[in-house]
Amino acid sequence: MKITITTLQGLENVLAQELKDLNLTEIKIGNRAVECEGSWAQVYKCNYLLRTAIRVLIPIREYTILDEKELYDAIASINWDPYIKKNDTIAITAVVFSEYFTNSRYVTYKAKDAIVDQIRDKYGSRPNIDLKNPDTLVHLFIKNDKLVVSLDSSGQSLHLRNYKERFFKAPLNEVLAAGMIQLSGWDKKKTFVDPMCGSGTLVTEAHMAACNIPAGYYIEEFGFERWQEFYPDVFKMVVDNAEAEIHEPTAIIHGSDLNGFAVRDAKKNMQRLPFREKVKLYQRDLFNLPSMSNCHIMMNPPYDSRIEIHNIHDFYNSVGDCLKNFWQGSDAWVFTSRSDAMKSFGLRSTKKFTLDNGGTESKMYKFELYAGSKKAKKQQ
Ligand SMILES: C[S@@+](CC[C@H](N)C(=O)[O-])C[C@H]1O[C@@H](n2cnc3c(N)ncnc32)[C@H](O)[C@@H]1O
Repeated sequence: MKITITTLQGLENVLAQELKDLNLTEIKIGNRAVECEGSWAQVYKCNYLLRTAIRVLIPIREYTILDEKELYDAIASINWDPYIKKNDTIAITAVVFSEYFTNSRYVTYKAKDAIVDQIRDKYGSRPNIDLKNPDTLVHLFIKNDKLVVSLDSSGQSLHLRNYKERFFKAPLNEVLAAGMIQLSGWDKKKTFVDPMCGSGTLVTEAHMAACNIPAGYYIEEFGFERWQEFYPDVFKMVVDNAEAEIHEPTAIIHGSDLNGFAVRDAKKNMQRLPFREKVKLYQRDLFNLPSMSNCHIMMNPPYDSRIEIHNIHDFYNSVGDCLKNFWQGSDAWVFTSRSDAMKSFGLRSTKKFTLDNGGTESKMYKFELYAGSKKAKKQQ
């Protein structure tokens, strides 16, 4: 069957690689989504295992439509019996890029009317709307005059991994953090260091990857578990097989932060994870950390919006100096939306990725911190 998996802008290639690793076929990379072919077991695996997936959609129909009446007729022409029982709750989400449909909320209302009318006409009672926790979540994607109607098998956005109990200021989205780690090419062997860890999203995602803990380990229920066509034995097998692969971390992981409350939150967020005691979490100013070499450093310094910094240019310059002087022999990745302040960093990046951080364009910069000059390193 056809499966469409949505992700964040900039993570499409990483998601495609994850899908290859799960043996899905016919992989096609789109904009914030990847399409593929797979079985029910693979739909369950996608939900349970993919670290960079936001939603796993099962497309059921495609139409060409030009106005609200055609939208209503298209949705009404689908026999909803296999997907929605009369006492079920439903919700509809829509992503719309079209000159014919400018109001996505109106699109969801029209589609809802078409479904509710059909079920009421057949059974005399209508399904209720439950926006938070529906039995069936229908997803509409409209691009120009093309409509794709899908069932959302995830139910909730998969970035809600359910391990975060506390959020210090400006936490990263879990899918973004996991995608950044994969984009950085961390081999899960080198010591991983986040010296500005906040509530610990990067260290937690690194730890989950290093222990093979499934991304959905703490998700209590996926949307597909309420469907009429659900194979609990197949899902149980997916979960059991994945959990049998959890092991001790393959790398040492350090997370530290200047702020004690942030470290407390990071510890709290990790407390239920297997092997959490192996992760070193402590309060420390970046500028007072003992120097380490041969590490994989990832950090997300303050942007000066939700966390105030006296002079962002001086601050970024000091962070660059600190890396250059005390972390030689390591690779450092810095993620920030402040490309202006990065001009004061004082180091030349060797790679750059552009990502979407909650609607704000941000960049992830790689710095290779050679011991000695770059020329000497090349000669070696
Ligand atoms: C944008 S937040 C990091 C958020 C984190 N990635 C998360 O997902 O929760 C930036 C963090 O840098 C920390 N910070 C600022 N100055 C620091 C310093 N000199 N040393 C260590 N941490 C610092 C702040 O306390 C804050 O927690």
